[in-house]
Amino acid sequence: MAELDKSQHEVAVAGDWTYASAPESRDIVHIADRYGHFVGGEWLEAAETYETIAPRDEEPLSAVGQGTAADVGRAVGAARAAYADGWSSLPGSERAKYLFRIARLLQERSREFAVLESLNGGKPIKESRDVDLPLAAAHFFYYAGWADKLEYAFPNRRPRPVGVAGQIIPWNFPLLMVAWKVAPALACGNTVVLKPAETTPLTALLFCDVLRQAELPVGVVNIVTGDGHTGAALVENDDVDKIAFTGSTEVGKEIQRRLAGTGKKLTLELGGKAANIVFDDAALDQAVEGIVNGIYFNQGHVCCAGSRLFVQESIYEPLVAKLERRLSTLRVGDPLDKNTDVGAINSAAQLEKIRELVASGVEEGAEIYQPPCVLPEKGYWFVPTVFTNVAQSYRIAQEEIFGPVLSVLTFRTPEEAVEKANNTPYGLSAGVWTEKGSRILWMAQRLRAGVVWANTFNRFDPSSPFGGYKESGFGREGGLHGLEPYLEFDE
Ligand code: NAI
Ligand code: MG
Repeated sequence: MAELDKSQHEVAVAGDWTYASAPESRDIVHIADRYGHFVGGEWLEAAETYETIAPRDEEPLSAVGQGTAADVGRAVGAARAAYADGWSSLPGSERAKYLFRIARLLQERSREFAVLESLNGGKPIKESRDVDLPLAAAHFFYYAGWADKLEYAFPNRRPRPVGVAGQIIPWNFPLLMVAWKVAPALACGNTVVLKPAETTPLTALLFCDVLRQAELPVGVVNIVTGDGHTGAALVENDDVDKIAFTGSTEVGKEIQRRLAGTGKKLTLELGGKAANIVFDDAALDQAVEGIVNGIYFNQGHVCCAGSRLFVQESIYEPLVAKLERRLSTLRVGDPLDKNTDVGAINSAAQLEKIRELVASGVEEGAEIYQPPCVLPEKGYWFVPTVFTNVAQSYRIAQEEIFGPVLSVLTFRTPEEAVEKANNTPYGLSAGVWTEKGSRILWMAQRLRAGVVWANTFNRFDPSSPFGGYKESGFGREGGLHGLEPYLEFDE
């Protein structure tokens, strides 16, 4: 047989493996030039507005209302009227129907919401599409299921709704936080006044259209936009029965002081400085993926982010080498590009905070690693960063950075890992990487954290309660536990 002509059988190998750009079209979403407040099912004209922008390039997107105490008062009035007017006495099975409708509408319109979330907040479309939107819908589905089963959830305790819930949410998961707050409140028969974060109001405002489509009775959910002053007005309103807050520990403490002695119910979900602990018997490549997901997911704007990595000394060098190599493959850039791994920092203020803390790390003596990376010229960006040679006393090991910045520390024994992991004022989450089930259980019993992930990180499920110890707050969201803050009981 004649010799094969080799040249004809050689597989063509591309020389350049970089991804072509794959932007998601923003045409699917309509953004109004101006928004008022959503009160009693209608749009209340805002006397004063501010501009909300896209953090990827600082493009102005819309003028949004800066809510006053009077606006908040009207919203609370509408919520009170809707509460008294039938919502609180509606059979649970009827309330459930609305929640199911909202869940389905979110699924139907998920692409529209995902694009808007990434545009206004800066997170990669991959995440808003695959995490935020499915989870937001899942929360409504999940709590729809509880609405007519409260008597079974809390037998012999006669659960009753609390009344009007004031809900204040942050900018890192804008729509998902709407779902975490609104779904359990409504399932339990409460009505709501919600204040979105100042930098990310747009998906909450689009959500008002979902409420209209779902034909939710007017006034059951009201949304007032604005900054911390609007939030404070909601906290101070005498006709609100319960406050649910997610945000900084500083503001959480302030709210707790204001509400002391008023008899209002309160739940706080605050910051974190989670330990992600890798033992020498862990599957290292898997652990590296978990570490990356733990701290670079959503640019590190995650209260439960695994921002302190504890590595057992014997695997320190290979693990850090693998981690740094993996970091160099992360694609930082346009949040609307489907291939983007790390998007834009949410705001100029947050970028400034990250820069300041990173500078303190260098100053205090930690060693910084940042992969080569070309950042867009406009907008707010920060290169994924790893600090090694970190002492526990450094600010980067103590304070919440809320950015794509990891501090690596080491330990020798499980006891030492526990001691170091718990050496923080926070206690929201932790991660343990090991092959041994017994060690996972041993660690989970000792870690002072509301959630402990084993061989994974940043996993969320509506049926699983989430919340903190110590300065990470109190009260639980999600699961059966997440119903309790929205109910009164015969005790
Ligand atoms: P923040 O706590 O000021 O804002 C969270 C929400 O509270 C926003 O809706 C804001 O308008 C509102 N708010 C602000 N002051 C208020 C007041 N006095 N009364 C009532 N509501 C008020 O958080 P910020 O300034 O956006 O971020 C600062 C730091 O907080 C971040 O760098 C991060 O470390 C942490 N943070 C933690 C979050 C979490 O998920 N646990 C979420 C957002 C921020
Ligand atoms: Mg603030």
